[in-house]
Amino acid sequence: MTKIAIALAATLGIAATGAQAQGSYPQRPITMIVPFAAGGPTDVIARIVGDHMSRTLGQQIVVENVAGAGGTTGITRGAQAQADGYTIMMGHMGTHGAAPALYPNLKYDPAKDFAPIGLAAGTPILIVAKKDFPANDLKGFLDYMKANGDKVNMAHAGVGSVSHSTGIFFNSVIKAKPTMVAYRGTGPALNDLMGNTVDYMTDQIVNVAPQIQGGNIKAFAIATAERSPALPNVPTTKEAGLDGYEVSAWNAVFAPKGTPPEIVAKLNDALAKSLDDENTRKRLLDLGGVIPSKAERTPEALQKLVESEVARWTPVLKAAGATAE
Ligand code: MLT
Repeated sequence: MTKIAIALAATLGIAATGAQAQGSYPQRPITMIVPFAAGGPTDVIARIVGDHMSRTLGQQIVVENVAGAGGTTGITRGAQAQADGYTIMMGHMGTHGAAPALYPNLKYDPAKDFAPIGLAAGTPILIVAKKDFPANDLKGFLDYMKANGDKVNMAHAGVGSVSHSTGIFFNSVIKAKPTMVAYRGTGPALNDLMGNTVDYMTDQIVNVAPQIQGGNIKAFAIATAERSPALPNVPTTKEAGLDGYEVSAWNAVFAPKGTPPEIVAKLNDALAKSLDDENTRKRLLDLGGVIPSKAERTPEALQKLVESEVARWTPVLKAAGATAE
């Protein structure tokens, strides 16, 4: 064999080994970083879709909660992980849409540092309050806020999170200046709302729907154009008399930039199968989640969504004067 033939054979050998290794992915459990505390919406969605993904992939998806800095701590860790398909992340509208406007030194670029896998769920936003809040509808709430706004506490999941950015936007629309109270996720924030120690928040439907249905908290409005089938008695913001506050969030799966395309395709396929599974769908729909259409589930659609969300949230948050400090 000539030197060139030997070199070619060696190269082909390496390529074949690489292809085999990727072809047999995954060979061990996959870590899915959830950048908030357990029990909140990001965690719940990760566990619901991850369940069926594990079955398709033949390996367990293990959720790791890495909370802090409105989700940016966990997502930074995920962005810097080995791009081998064994670390993926459940990001959302906050970590991949709002955070760049609020953290000038953010260590990742949502549009450049990830291999998008696919959208997992749409999550309408609700305006909710503790059970003892002295108002029973949005009008009463707005009147109360006009008179007592500076005495009121608003819970959120950290600067840049969904509850924080949608909350800042809400406060700017209604011209309220509550004391903002940060938690490591809206799971623990909701516990305090139920315990009457904080007053209100704007949160994703999958977190609050069961407590609204159970009468443990008050829901003043859902910030979408239509009511949710999961909460048919909750009026839209428009129906409740508030213009200019329509906002929805989303959760999506990301891998670190450089993850091989074959692995991205496998993960995307597993996610799509999960979203087609009857049990996964029921669990998400019962919580008010919106199942992405087939066109919305592709990595390309998620990339476009991230770019448009950064462009949408940056001016909104800058106009509201929000910063991480
Ligand atoms: C958020 O507000 O960003 C999320 O609801 C946080 C969480 O999943 O706990």
